[in-house]
Amino acid sequence: MDSDLSLEFLRVVEQAAIACARTMGQGDRHHSDQVAVEAMRAVMDTVAIDGTIVIGEGERDEAPMLYIGEKVGMVHATHITGPRPIRFDEVDIAVDPLEGTNLCATGAANAIAVLAASNKGGLLHAPDLYMEKLVVGPSSKNHVSLDAPVHENLKAIAKCLDRSVEDLVVIVLDRPRHEKLIADIRATGARIRLIGDGDLSAGISAAVVGTGVHAVMGTGGAPEGVLTAAAMRCLNGEIFARLVISKPEHEARCRAMGITDLKRVYRSADLAPGDQIIFAATGVTDGALMRGVRFFGDGTRTSSVIMQNDPHLIRFVDSIHVNESKDVKIQF
Ligand code: FBP
Repeated sequence: MDSDLSLEFLRVVEQAAIACARTMGQGDRHHSDQVAVEAMRAVMDTVAIDGTIVIGEGERDEAPMLYIGEKVGMVHATHITGPRPIRFDEVDIAVDPLEGTNLCATGAANAIAVLAASNKGGLLHAPDLYMEKLVVGPSSKNHVSLDAPVHENLKAIAKCLDRSVEDLVVIVLDRPRHEKLIADIRATGARIRLIGDGDLSAGISAAVVGTGVHAVMGTGGAPEGVLTAAAMRCLNGEIFARLVISKPEHEARCRAMGITDLKRVYRSADLAPGDQIIFAATGVTDGALMRGVRFFGDGTRTSSVIMQNDPHLIRFVDSIHVNESKDVKIQF
């Protein structure tokens, strides 16, 4: 996969973020998601790839666009005219056009538009189930385990970061299923940030020094887990994850996707094994690493991160999308 594609994928997440940011605070999460999906799909057609959605909005019968298995990219977009490359890279793509639909609908922090791309076969084809997750940064990734008690993991993270457990901040999704987890973390004295949604952007924060987030713990979506793994491959952090199989129907869905070891603990390189990974995200609402979309009359300003592992490069991009007008003013 050509690493220059990273800037093309940047355009895709920027446009998805701009589209749904227009709906921020309107209280309609489905509408916010729909406009993000439509924008992402339309821009994807202009990218010179032969793409396949491996994680998307759902199965074909439940999602009109960006469904799992859908072919995307210019090679399939016969309606796009103009010069075409001789050869198109085959690319697998995981998308979450609006991660944090409720966050956008209520104007809360940390909604993002996101995608990950890899060479063929480089992203696990995961069913849309829950996953138990533990996400940590580079210093502690070889010192924790998904099966260790919470107090042991927190002690290990604190030691790696050369601080006391009381100085740690752990992000947990605010859900009844996490009652015991929250009690266990509180018992250690560590601090907790409970979030309404968005364990993917939380995971990215845990892998970046200076965000004030040291771990993410708890159960969230498996697609978000694979996207987190793609980000970890670029940030040198780690996600430990195990699918939550609580019904026979879950087991059948896993087997249909070729997953046979249902108790496996996956790490980033298992969930996102690609040699070439690109991860792109744009803030929809303000977050720790990216600001939300700002509309300022003469244009729109977006804040994004684009990461790749080959060549290894992390870019924080502040873009101004200028409106067509005679008297445009750009502010630094
Ligand atoms: P949406 O973007 O689909 O709204 O998902 C947000 C999210 O909070 C994820 O970040 C998280 O992994 C998952 O939902 C948790 O699922 P649930 O809301 O069912 O607990």
